[in-house]
Amino acid sequence: MKELGSSQSTDPIGQNLIKLISNVCFSVFVFSVLMFTVIAITYQPPDPWESSRALTRVFTEVENATFKTDTSVLKTGEDITSSPGASPVGTMVPITEEGIEKSESNMTNVNVTADCSSVGLINCSDPRVLFTIEKFNLKVFKALVFLDYQTPVNGSKPDECDVSWRFRNKREKSWRKYRDFRRFQIGFTDDCSYKVVHAGRWHSGLNARRPRPRVNSTAPRVKIAPPVKDEDINDTIPVLGSDFKNGKYLYYSRGGDYCKGMNHFQWSFLCALGEAQYLNRTFVMDLSICLASTYTQSHKDEEGKDFRFYFDFEHLKEVASIVEEGEFHQDWRKWDKAHKKKISVRKVASYKVTPMQLKKDKSTIIWRQFDAPEPENYWYRVCEGSAAKYIQRPWHALWKSKRLMNIVSEISGSMDWDFDAVHVVRGEKAQNKKMWPHLDADTSPDALVTKVPTMIKPWRNLYIATNEPFYNYFDKLRSHYKVHLLDDYKHLWGNTSEWYNETTLLNNNHPVEFDGYMRVEVDTEVLYRAKTRVETFYNLTSDCKDGINTC
Ligand SMILES: *[C@@H]1O[C@H](CO)[C@@H](O)[C@H](O)[C@H]1NC(C)=O
Ligand SMILES: *[C@@H]1O[C@H](CO)[C@@H](O)[C@H](O)[C@H]1NC(C)=O
Ligand SMILES: *[C@@H]1O[C@H](CO)[C@@H](O)[C@H](O)[C@H]1NC(C)=O
Ligand SMILES: *[C@@H]1O[C@H](CO)[C@@H](O)[C@H](O)[C@H]1NC(C)=O
Ligand SMILES: *[C@@H]1O[C@H](CO)[C@@H](O)[C@H](O)[C@H]1NC(C)=O
Ligand SMILES: *[C@@H]1O[C@H](CO)[C@@H](O)[C@H](O)[C@H]1NC(C)=O
Ligand SMILES: *[C@@H]1O[C@H](CO)[C@@H](O)[C@H](O)[C@H]1NC(C)=O
Ligand SMILES: *[C@@H]1O[C@H](CO)[C@@H](O)[C@H](O)[C@H]1NC(C)=O
Ligand SMILES: *[C@@H]1O[C@H](CO)[C@@H](O)[C@H](O)[C@H]1NC(C)=O
Ligand SMILES: *[C@@H]1O[C@H](CO)[C@@H](O)[C@H](O)[C@H]1NC(C)=O
Ligand SMILES: *[C@@H]1O[C@H](CO)[C@@H](O)[C@H](O)[C@H]1NC(C)=O
Repeated sequence: MKELGSSQSTDPIGQNLIKLISNVCFSVFVFSVLMFTVIAITYQPPDPWESSRALTRVFTEVENATFKTDTSVLKTGEDITSSPGASPVGTMVPITEEGIEKSESNMTNVNVTADCSSVGLINCSDPRVLFTIEKFNLKVFKALVFLDYQTPVNGSKPDECDVSWRFRNKREKSWRKYRDFRRFQIGFTDDCSYKVVHAGRWHSGLNARRPRPRVNSTAPRVKIAPPVKDEDINDTIPVLGSDFKNGKYLYYSRGGDYCKGMNHFQWSFLCALGEAQYLNRTFVMDLSICLASTYTQSHKDEEGKDFRFYFDFEHLKEVASIVEEGEFHQDWRKWDKAHKKKISVRKVASYKVTPMQLKKDKSTIIWRQFDAPEPENYWYRVCEGSAAKYIQRPWHALWKSKRLMNIVSEISGSMDWDFDAVHVVRGEKAQNKKMWPHLDADTSPDALVTKVPTMIKPWRNLYIATNEPFYNYFDKLRSHYKVHLLDDYKHLWGNTSEWYNETTLLNNNHPVEFDGYMRVEVDTEVLYRAKTRVETFYNLTSDCKDGINTC
C-alpha cells in the first residue's frame, strides 16, 4: 500500500493504473487465500450456543468468563436443531390419523351404531371411544407426538372416560417420552358415533393413572390416587467389576473449572468427553459438581451437587463410554492389590500435550492432571489450538435431567401447550450500563407493557422466562395477559412433589434445593415450547447480546 502511494506521485498515469490494477488483483488473491486458510483453520461444527465465538473469547479472557456469558438460558444437546437425534431402536411408532382410520375400518365385526339408543351409556373400553379421543388429541395438540394409549377406564360419571398416554414434544430433539392422563366427557353425534364433549386438563384423568407397583391389593382401598413416579428413569451408576482390566481410560483430575459457572462446566466437560471419544477411551467421570455462587441461595459456592440433578445421566450412559470416578478408584485399587503387575498409567502434566500425541499411547489409564495455576488448569484448554480440528464436543450426549423435564411438561401441559413466552434478560446485564446501555430501560415494566402487546395477542397465556428476581416486577402485564412465572409452579418442586421425593432419594435422603441452575434449565425449556417467542435481544432492545459493538 505504501509503495502504491509513493509511485502515484512520480509515475505517468497509464503505467500507474496498470500497476494499481495488478496490485489490487494480487491483494485480492492474497486476501482470499488468507481468508480461505483462516476459515479452514477456524471452522468448527455448529454448536448450540449462538454466541459460541463470543464464549470462546470470554473463556480465553479468563478473568471475565463467568461474568459475561448468558446465564439466563441454557442450551444443551436436545435444543440443537442441526442434529436431529436418530430414533433409537425400538421407538414406538407415532399415532397418526391414517393409522387410527385403518384400525377403525378393520372392526367389521362390531356394530357401528353402538349403544346410541340408550344415550348416556358410554362403554369406555369400546375401541371406538379411544379412536375418538386419539383423533381429538391429534387435532388439539399439534405440538405433540402421541406414542401409545392405554385402554380408557371409567371416569367419575357415566359419560366420562379417563385415558392415559405417552407423548413426545416435537420441539424437543430428544426421544424422551412423557405421560399424561386426562378425563374426557363423551357424547354422541347425530349419526350415532362418539364425540368428545369436553376434555379435562393436564393430569385430570386420575383413574387412568398407573397405580404404583408396590401397592398391596389386599390392603384397604383408600380413595387417594397413588403418586405418579417416573419409572422410566434409570440413572444408577454403572458397575465395572471384572471388566475393569479390559478397558482403557481417560481420567481428568479436578481443574480450575471446579466451582465456575455452568456454561464453563459444559464447555470443559464436553471437551474432556470429546477427547475420550477421540482416543477411544472410557471417560472417568466425577459426578460431584460444585455449583457456583451465582446459582445458590447462600450466594456461596456449594460443593457436592450431583450431576444427575441437572443432566440426564441415563442418556449419557447410553451414548458415551463413561465410568464413575468412585467405582473406578475402587476397581483400580482392588486390581493393584490382587496383582503383581500394576495397571499402566501415563500421567500428563500439561494441557500442552495434545490429544494427537496421546493417540498411540497404550497405557490402560491416561491421567491428565491440572496442577498449573489458573488459567492453565482449565479442562477446555485441551481442546484449543490444533486439537480443535480433531476433537468435537459431543453435544448430543448432554441432555437436561428428565426430572426437570417432567416439571417442564407439567408447566407447559397445565397451559395446554397453548401459550406464548417472553424472555426477559435482566440481572447483571441490566446493571452494566457500559456494555448494555439500553437494556435496563428496554425491559422496564413500562417498556414491556407497551412493546409486548405489539407482538402477542391480548389475554393469551404468557410465560415469562427471566432472571429478574422480583416476582411482582411483571404485574403491569397482568392487565393484558394471563401471566405465568416459574414461581407460580413452586408446588412442582415443593416438599410434597415427585421431584422432591426423587432428588431426596438420589441425595442420600437429604432434601435438595431447587437452585438457580435448575430454574434456568426449566425456564429455558418452557420458553422453547411457546408458540410465539419474544426475545430480549432482537425484539425488546437493540443492545447486543454480548455487550456493546458485538452484533
Ligand atoms: C474484564 O472486565 C473488567 C471489568 O469489567 C475490564 O476492565 C477488563 O478489561 C475485562 N478483561 C477482559 C480481558 O475483557
Ligand atoms: C386387522 O385385523 C386383523 C385380524 O383381526 C389383524 O391381524 C390386523 O393386524 C388388523 N389390522 C390393523 C391395521 O389393525
Ligand atoms: C349388532 O346389534 C344388533 C342389535 O342392535 C345385535 O342383534 C347384533 O347381535 C349385533 N352384532 C354384533 C356383531 O355385535
Ligand atoms: C364394552 O366394550 C368391550 C369391548 O368392545 C366389551 O368387551 C365389553 O363387554 C363392553 N361392556 C359393556 C358393559 O357393554
Ligand atoms: C364402568 O361403568 C359402566 C356403566 O357406566 C359399568 O357397567 C362398568 O362395570 C364400569 N366398569 C368398571 C371397570 O368399573
Ligand atoms: C399385603 O397385605 C396382606 C394382608 O393385609 C399381607 O398379608 C401381605 O403381607 C401384604 N403384602 C405385601 C407385599 O405387603
Ligand atoms: C439400570 O441401568 C443399568 C445399566 O446402566 C442396568 O444394569 C440396570 O439393570 C438397570 N436397572 C433397571 C431397573 O432397569
Ligand atoms: C475402540 O476400542 C474398542 C475396544 O477398546 C475396539 O473394539 C474398537 O475397535 C476401537 N475403535 C477404534 C476406532 O479404534
Ligand atoms: C413442607 O414444608 C412446609 C413449609 O415449608 C412445612 O410446614 C412442612 O412440614 C413440610 N413437610 C414435610 C413433609 O417436610
Ligand atoms: C413423597 O414421599 C412421601 C413420603 O415417602 C409420600 O408421603 C408422598 O406421597 C410422596 N409424594 C409424591 C408426589 O410422590
Ligand atoms: C423477534 O425478532 C426477530 C428478528 O428480528 C423476528 O424474526 C421475530 O419475528 C421477532 N419476534 C416477534 C414475536 O415479533
